Order: sequence, then structure tokens, then C-alpha cells
Amino acid sequence: MAFIVAIDGPAGSGKGTITSLVGKRMNLVNIDTGAMYRCISLYMIRNNISKDDKEAIKKMLEEIKIDMKKIDGVDKFYLNGEDVSGKIREKEVNEIVSQVSHIIEVREAMVDLQRKMGENLDIIMEGRDIGTNVFPNADVKIYLDATAEERANRRLKQNMEKGIESNYEEILENIKFRDHNDKTSDVAPLRQAEDAIYVDSTNLSIEEVVDKISGIIQEKRG
Ligand code: DC
Repeated sequence: MAFIVAIDGPAGSGKGTITSLVGKRMNLVNIDTGAMYRCISLYMIRNNISKDDKEAIKKMLEEIKIDMKKIDGVDKFYLNGEDVSGKIREKEVNEIVSQVSHIIEVREAMVDLQRKMGENLDIIMEGRDIGTNVFPNADVKIYLDATAEERANRRLKQNMEKGIESNYEEILENIKFRDHNDKTSDVAPLRQAEDAIYVDSTNLSIEEVVDKISGIIQEKRG
């Protein structure tokens, strides 16, 4: 039986970094579900598909192939064979991915794919609805959180490191707006599963969070 770890939480909570590090340490295949919605978004931009064009969306879901591979320790995403790992993080995709992730047909297809990935592999999967919807029977469920102010600080720091000019108040406003949208969404709203363990990373280092979650997994796995 596959062992499944579900990591959910809001934007900027550090899920990506933490999931990748815990996956390596605990020998679990890391699956970033946000990246799947990003691949679909890129395909829709390139092929000029509107989110309201149900026919085109249906056809796209039949044609599209999303693969993940680890190359030299780095997770790569492939869209119909093309490495799109960089492109799916670009501004155009950022702008539409939230709306794309709310299209019912897209959501159903991605959840099916995510469940298939968990059939035979020991995985750690990060997203918004993994513990509540994709794997309600996951072996370990973590809800990773941090205050909006701390998440804004982290984003500001990341932007400075990348040489991107930004403003703390604007970032904070945007994070609060996204939180509200994510939590009140009609489709797969972000919420903590009843049996998820709440981990607040506000005052913890990356190392401390990784230790804590790895410890929880270790205890369950025996
Ligand atoms: O984690 P991320 O920023 O790469 O996620 C991209 C978008 O996809 C974000 O708007 C939330 C959405 N998402 C989702 O609705 N369900 C998931 N399981 C993962 C991401």
C-alpha cells in the first residue's frame, strides 16, 4: 500500500520548499499539484482557450499530457513532452491560474490524475485540497500556516533577492485578498481537514518545520 502525506495551506506558507525538503529526507515522491494547474493555464494561453469554452476545455483535457520528472534533484514539469518548468512560473500564468483551477472540468481531471499518481508510489503531495478532497484517507495530513504579515515579509525578501522591486503593504494586501478568495471559493475551498495537524511556521526556521513534519511522518510510518 502506498504511503500518502498531504500538505495543504495558503499561498506563501512555504509549502513548496518544505514539501521538497521533507520528500527528500523521507524518501517520498514530491508532487506539486499547483504546477499541474499551471501547465493547464499555459496550454490555455498558448491555444487561446477561454475558461467559458466548455467544448475546447473538454478537447484540451483529452489531448493534454502532464509529466513530472526529477532531473539532477530538481523537479521538472513537461507539457506534451516540452519542459515548461520555467514558463509555468511566469506572470501570464500567475494571472490566470487561480481562475483556471476553479473550472470544474479541469479540477475533476487533475484530481483523477493526482489520485492515480498516489496509487503505487509513496508520495508527499502539496496543494489546497489534498487532505480534504484528493486523499481524504491520507496517512499524514498537515495544514501549514503562517500569519499574513510573516508571509508578506517572506515574499518581500524573495523579491529583493530576485531584484524585483515591491512594496510590503501591497504584498500584504494581495495575500489577504488571495486568502479570502481561496477560503470562500465555491470549488474546493482552502480549509484544514478535521484530522490534519496544524503547523504554524510563523516563528520557525525552514529546518525546524522540516524536522517537525519529518518527525510526524516517522512516527506514523513506524
Ligand atoms: O501553489 P501554486 O501557487 O503553484 O498554485 C497555483 C494555483 O492553483 C493557486 O491559485 C491555487 C490553485 N491550486 C488549487 O486550487 N488546488 C491545488 N491542489 C493546488 C493549487
